[in-house]
Formats: sequence, C-alpha cells, structure tokens
Amino acid sequence: MMIRPNAREPDMSSPAPSHADTCWQALLQARDHDWSTGPLRVPLDPGRLTIQADGRWQAEPSLNSPDAELLDALLPVLCAPEGCVIGQLGQSLDGRIATASGHSHYINVLEARVHLHRLRALVDAVVVGAGTVAADDPALTVRHVEGPNPLRVVIDPRGRLAGHHRLFTDGQAPTRQLIGTTLPTDACGAHQRHAVLPEAEGSGLPGAVIAHLRDAGYRRILIEGGSTTLSHFLEAGALDRLHLLVAPLLIGSGKTGLSLTPIETLESARRPPCRRFSLGDDTLFDLDLGTT
Ligand SMILES: NC(=O)c1ccc[n+]([C@@H]2O[C@H](COP(=O)([O-])OP(=O)(O)OC[C@H]3O[C@@H](n4cnc5c(N)ncnc54)[C@H](OP(=O)(O)O)[C@@H]3O)[C@@H](O)[C@H]2O)c1
Repeated sequence: MMIRPNAREPDMSSPAPSHADTCWQALLQARDHDWSTGPLRVPLDPGRLTIQADGRWQAEPSLNSPDAELLDALLPVLCAPEGCVIGQLGQSLDGRIATASGHSHYINVLEARVHLHRLRALVDAVVVGAGTVAADDPALTVRHVEGPNPLRVVIDPRGRLAGHHRLFTDGQAPTRQLIGTTLPTDACGAHQRHAVLPEAEGSGLPGAVIAHLRDAGYRRILIEGGSTTLSHFLEAGALDRLHLLVAPLLIGSGKTGLSLTPIETLESARRPPCRRFSLGDDTLFDLDLGTT
C-alpha cells in the first residue's frame, strides 16, 4: 500500500519537543483501533495527533523529525486493509548476516533492534525458520519497548526441533510449530504444534503458512528470518513490505542475507518503491513490495 506524504509544516524557528512515547502509544492504539468509528485522535501536550485509516496523519503543532519518522516507518504495517505481511533482515553493507563462524550478535545497533521489537509488538504473529531456532534459541518476545507479544511461529517441515528450545518452554507467549504432514504429530516434544497444510511444499509453503495464519485470525505477520526463510517468502511473492536494516560495516565473508533465483540482466532486478529512515548509525530501507 502506498501511503501518501503526510502534511507537515517544517518549523525552522525552534525545535519541536519530543513526543516519542506518545507516538509509540498512538501506534499501539492504532494497532487495535476500529477505523469504522473514524480516525484515531491522540492528545499531545500541547496539541493533537490525528491518524487516518489509510495511514496518513496530522499533528498540531508539528512533530519533530524522529517522531514523524517513527509514524511514517510503522503506520504502513498497520494500515494495509488485508493485513500486512512484512519481512525484516538485519545485515551489513555487503549483505552478510553473520561471519563464517556464525557470529552475528550484533550486526545492528540498538536502535535497529528496538525497531525489530516495535515490529513484533505491532504484528499478530512472528515467523522464523527452524534454522534460526536451532542456531539462536530466540525468545521472539517484545522486550525493548512496551507492547504485546505476538504468536510465535516456527516453520519446521522435518520436525527437527526438540522441545527444549526457549520458544516452547518459557511460557512468555503462545508458540505454534508448523511441521510436515507426513510426520506424526508426536514427532517433537510436548509443546503446542500444528501440521502444515497438505499443499505446503516447496514454493507453495509461504502462501500456505500465511493462509493458515489468516484462517486462524492472525492478519499482520512478521517474517523475521533467517535468510533462507525470508528468501523463500520473497521469492514466492508473499511479502507486502520488506524492512532491510543495514549496518555500516563490511564483514566480507560469511552467511549472506537474501538469496534468490539468479537473473540474467539488471533489467530483471526488482526496484520496489523505497523509503529510508535513520536508526542510529544504521539505515532502514522500507521496500513496498505490494506495488511491484
Ligand atoms: N539478521 C537477521 O535479521 C536475522 C534474523 C533471523 C535469523 N538470523 C540468522 O539466520 C540464521 C538462520 O538462517 P537460516 O537461513 O540458516 O535458517 P532459517 O531461515 O531460520 O530456517 C531455514 C529452515 O526452515 C525451514 N523452512 C523455512 N521456510 C521454508 C520453506 N519455505 N520451505 C521449506 N522449508 C522451510 C527449513 O527447515 P528444514 O531444513 O528442517 O526443512 C529450512 O532449512 C541464524 O544464524 C540466525 O542468527 C538473522
């Protein structure tokens, strides 16, 4: 979904005060707002912020630049009518997500990791591949910001994950393990799981995972990684947006980020509409994949 530019009058005379907390609370309210009742109106001190169903917003008086960027970067995730499927990947300038030995914590600065936690708080479900759980044992909870934990979903076609992983044991949020239909449902530990749909093979799997989650009422979905999973979803055309968080470092070798089917010429390269935002020293590239 394209968001039209927001109306902001730059105030060159004095810097606008920070309303960072209020803007984040406004995004959390927008997450659950019933737009059929009209726009969301949030009081500022002083003034008022108004958010429309399509993601346009107005503030009186004007917001400072970081607050405006917070709204601009995240409202498209909330305002896609069908619910947004967004991918994210943190990587170096040369497109690496880990060293050759697998060291990856942390490529991105704290501001970028906070951004990831904001994404988790705004979606209904966060999806990772079995490789990420095996490598990192992530919690996939919201800790850097205030907000709800999403459903945690692991794509594990071969049922290779044992039940000791944190997602399955910490009780912090519900977890759903998507395993192949040929596996017995007691193939893994005693944690909650769900069989993948029958057509969920190869390139059909991303669409089947999304359909499965949508059927269960999860509309906004974050594909958090790793690179194999994200590449599958991108290749299958299953992403509406992609947030690439690029850190200004060169790793030079090691695990690469996106890996797609080779193309012959640059004319075939995708050039989706792209917006840039600063996250400390890192840069967020927000790609709108729904229009290409
Ligand atoms: N930089 C970041 O933002 C970020 C984010 C998350 C993770 N990571 C890193 O990424 C690394 C893990 O990435 P990874 O690429 O090795 O693993 P991954 O993407 O986490 O998991 C890949 C595995 O998940 C299953 N899977 C996922 N999608 C599938 C599909 N469409 N079709 C079939 N199977 C599918 C397969 O399991 P089977 O092989 O068992 O069939 C596949 O091998 C870790 O080092 C982690 O630290 C980085």
